[in-house]
Amino acid sequence: MVALKEGYDLASEVLRLKVERKAVILAHNYQVPEIQDVADFVGDSLGLSYRAKESDADVIVFCGVHFMAETAKIVNPGRKVILPDLEAGCSLADSCPADHLADFLNRHRDRNYYVIAYINCSAGVKALSDIICTSGNAVKVVQAAPKDRNILFVPDQNLGSWVMEQTGRKMDLWRGACYVHVEFTQNSIQRIREVYPDAPVVAHPECTYAVRLLADEVCSTEKMVSYCRNSPANSFIIATESGMLHRLKKELPDKEFIPGPTENCACADCRFMKRNTLEKLRDALETLQPEITMPESIRKQAELPILRMLELK
Ligand code: 13P
Ligand code: SF4
Repeated sequence: MVALKEGYDLASEVLRLKVERKAVILAHNYQVPEIQDVADFVGDSLGLSYRAKESDADVIVFCGVHFMAETAKIVNPGRKVILPDLEAGCSLADSCPADHLADFLNRHRDRNYYVIAYINCSAGVKALSDIICTSGNAVKVVQAAPKDRNILFVPDQNLGSWVMEQTGRKMDLWRGACYVHVEFTQNSIQRIREVYPDAPVVAHPECTYAVRLLADEVCSTEKMVSYCRNSPANSFIIATESGMLHRLKKELPDKEFIPGPTENCACADCRFMKRNTLEKLRDALETLQPEITMPESIRKQAELPILRMLELK
């Protein structure tokens, strides 16, 4: 009872401060339910990038992980962008440090790489890339890449190999992975499928090949909503981060969503996404901290490949 009342008060305070600060709250589909419920927009990396670009608010409060808030800052240099917890990082982004990529490109100058970077990377990596993609548009971005160039796809090898399967385009892949999505295994998904034989398996492309093979649909978190909405099925096994289930249940209350289990857990949580809480969101709105900043030279270089992605029709 007490917790509920506190949650309610906190949510009201967040909404009051949001108006006072002329802020917009953007939240990723993996955020905790209390944050999704007070956000102006909840979506995937692609939808959030467009919203950040279109925003005319004085302050963008980005409830997601660091690279997402950083992307919002890159396309909104004149606005204040805040992230409730600066420690909300990403194992996938960490798997490709900018200096390692610069060194690799230097050593392989003969390959004349066209670098496609998944948005889950730092501003420094974006600055070294030709174009950015998200899981929602990676196929389209690769299809539009110059035919006479070798492609280097960074940092997610699983998304990269899925895109190769979809497009038939050969690419060199950076060996990064998301620590959450690789926890789903052939065994863990097969076991839950035996319990719910009629439920289609919907998996994120950051999952391994073995899991993607078992999936009825492989797509970005936003496309999961439209797939489940348009499918005649009533129950779905969702192989992605657990926050997604709140969004799905809210949008499709008459359908059933079963979290895809990992080998050791009934569902998968991203410890970085879960660092943001409603309390930290309230504090961030109150103090307008922690703020995302970066050197202008990096911001400018990182902006071009993001704009190329956003302008791709
Ligand atoms: P989406 O762009 O599909 O929301 O994925 C982002 C992400 O971090 C997946 O782990
Ligand atoms: Fe990064 Fe994986 Fe968390 Fe997504 S789920 S933010 S890729 S660590």
